[in-house]
Amino acid sequence: METDEESQDTPVSEAQIAVHWREEEYYQPPAKFIAQANAGDPSIFERFREERFPECFKEYADLLSWDAYWHTTLDTSNPPFWKWFVGGRLNASFNCVDRHLAASSNKAALIWVPEPEEEETRAITYQELYKRVNEFAALLRDFAGVKIGDRVTFHLPMVPELPVAMLACARLGAIHSQVFGGFSGAACGERIADADSHVLVTMDGFYRNGELLDHKVKADEAIARAHDLGCEVDKVLVWRRRPGQYASKSPMVEGRDFFVDELLPDYRDKLVEPVSMPAEAPLFLMYTSGTTGRPKGCEHSTGGYLAYVAGTSKYYQDIHPEDTYWCFADIGWITGHSYIVYGPLALGTTSVMYEGVPTYPDPGRPWRIAQRLGVDIFHTSPTTVRMLRKVGPDEPAKYDYHFKHMTTVGEPIEPEVWRWYHEVIGKGEAVIVDTWWQTENGGFLGSTLPALQAMKPGSCGPGVLGIYPVIYDENGDEVLAGSGRAGNMCIRNPWPGIFQTIWGQPEKFVDTYYAKYCRDRQSKDWRDWPYFAGDGAVQAADGYFRILGRVDDVINVAGHRLGTKELESASLMVDEVAEAAAVPVIDDIRGRAVEMYVSLKPGVQASEEMSAKVSRAIDTEIGKIARPKNVWIVPDLPKTRSGKIMRRVIAGISNFTDVGDTSTLANPEIVDVIRHHVQKEKAARGEVPRELSREELEEIQSFGSVE
Ligand code: PRX
Repeated sequence: METDEESQDTPVSEAQIAVHWREEEYYQPPAKFIAQANAGDPSIFERFREERFPECFKEYADLLSWDAYWHTTLDTSNPPFWKWFVGGRLNASFNCVDRHLAASSNKAALIWVPEPEEEETRAITYQELYKRVNEFAALLRDFAGVKIGDRVTFHLPMVPELPVAMLACARLGAIHSQVFGGFSGAACGERIADADSHVLVTMDGFYRNGELLDHKVKADEAIARAHDLGCEVDKVLVWRRRPGQYASKSPMVEGRDFFVDELLPDYRDKLVEPVSMPAEAPLFLMYTSGTTGRPKGCEHSTGGYLAYVAGTSKYYQDIHPEDTYWCFADIGWITGHSYIVYGPLALGTTSVMYEGVPTYPDPGRPWRIAQRLGVDIFHTSPTTVRMLRKVGPDEPAKYDYHFKHMTTVGEPIEPEVWRWYHEVIGKGEAVIVDTWWQTENGGFLGSTLPALQAMKPGSCGPGVLGIYPVIYDENGDEVLAGSGRAGNMCIRNPWPGIFQTIWGQPEKFVDTYYAKYCRDRQSKDWRDWPYFAGDGAVQAADGYFRILGRVDDVINVAGHRLGTKELESASLMVDEVAEAAAVPVIDDIRGRAVEMYVSLKPGVQASEEMSAKVSRAIDTEIGKIARPKNVWIVPDLPKTRSGKIMRRVIAGISNFTDVGDTSTLANPEIVDVIRHHVQKEKAARGEVPRELSREELEEIQSFGSVE
């Protein structure tokens, strides 16, 4: 693609598309924040400069308690399967719980806020957490037969039983795999089978938007799906949202399903010695979407991961043990693992968990929670900020809470929304970090260091301590800071929080993240193996990065990655559907929403019922989070001569933008037919197009490019 300013004779690759936007003004951190910050002395940059790599990360590892110290900080003998802190041994549960008992046994580790406002908030002290983790670990080991290295799948909502179960697995050296509670039973079953788990931990129900949802029913679907895929679950451990009262209609299966509250009395006061694990032992799997249908189980290590989340929580979240920290995300996503559970608890602080939706029963809810609990650090996504801005712009001012620090994570934040976050939610008092990273990364990769680097709305900032990002073009040439050109965001060096592999798919791990820019497959020098993040980005002259979004076929809905292939395969579960394509539409609240285009098998009539069937299939296969904004039934999809669906053309139609060159299509005539139908229908539904920003336009016009 070529733009006005490109020279006529140099061909310009897709990744080099020039981006222009207004440079935003800097915001300085408040003096009060600087005075108390964990990282307030600029010498920290010296400690993490590139010449000190990889030893600089000793500073993060030293935040942990090790049973045995490591002999090799970074082992690069089998690239890109990096090993960190080799020879070291530790236990993650011990680090997040036991070691805080001496000084803080009575302090709240977790404060859980149930969604129904009349239900009491529960504080769980470090001592109580210790008890609960030990008892559940004993139950997992002695009742469910869980051993070191076994995978245990959880399908839990935002309840304290989730961190308890994570820490209980970690105590035993077992690998947990939490599937986001909002995902469907089928999606859970696929992840169970992929991980080959034989134990599922779930809950009967949970509150969402005022309703007690039946969740156990999903366990039955999950087990059936896992069975179809050749994996048998022996035990389903069902917590009850209210012990003694079963909130599900799904029957308990004799010999397979057990209520945890009935089993626990047998394990009362049992203690389980934390198993001393090698630093390189996997701690958990976290599934994410990629370019193919099969979800990717990102495997995270014990020592490197925990060191990285502890270090970044200390310096970037500025967590002190006396803070009350609230990360308003779901533990079912990596953000929750790293920055609700492992990072904050490793540092011995108080971490708040909220069960429900931000606007229940009204948009003042988050601020009542913040005021009542004295939250001073707040962490959320642009989607939540946009939603609260839309439905409750005057609410924050009504409540007497004060944040010293706020985070935004998961998707690009528009400068205008950033300013609203700063001025209205933050009351102009808080420092903000815009943290860029991914499920694969364990922790933050791009952010400002809050007391030492000025904020710039819309940009995440430079690479974090010990991370050296670079933007490459398609040919592997560096796209320079200040050039105004976008390219592929890469990280030049390994870091302790990087995932170890994709569970069961090591070749895919290498192909997806390293093959593109590897200089020499035989090399054992990490400098030859830059990490390809799959995001487009542009770097300003000041070194700050602005992330433009995914370069692959992944749609980021409300900060959650959904693979187009997954959405399409789900649609094809409907018998009558012949072909399907998923595209993003720009959505003012959720960032992006999904639209599906399907064509039907010969002889099948298009109908509303058929669209609803596709929607339901996506609900069943993936979950409500993926529910399409619209399902369009079309006579055919635009295809190249080699038969590939041109997603960028239909993405253009969905977003009312120019569909670009259609001359290479095998069936160009279909474009007008689809456009006429879809845009007319959208107008009837009141979906008025708005003008897109330059970056939005580029994202749509290059979506899923296959030329
Ligand atoms: O495109 C980037 C976007 O979210 C993707 C990672 O999604 P996921 O693996 O689900 O992890 C979410 C939790 C970190 C990235 O590839 N993204 C994440 N954070 C930001 C972002 N885009 C812009 N700014 C961010 N701060």
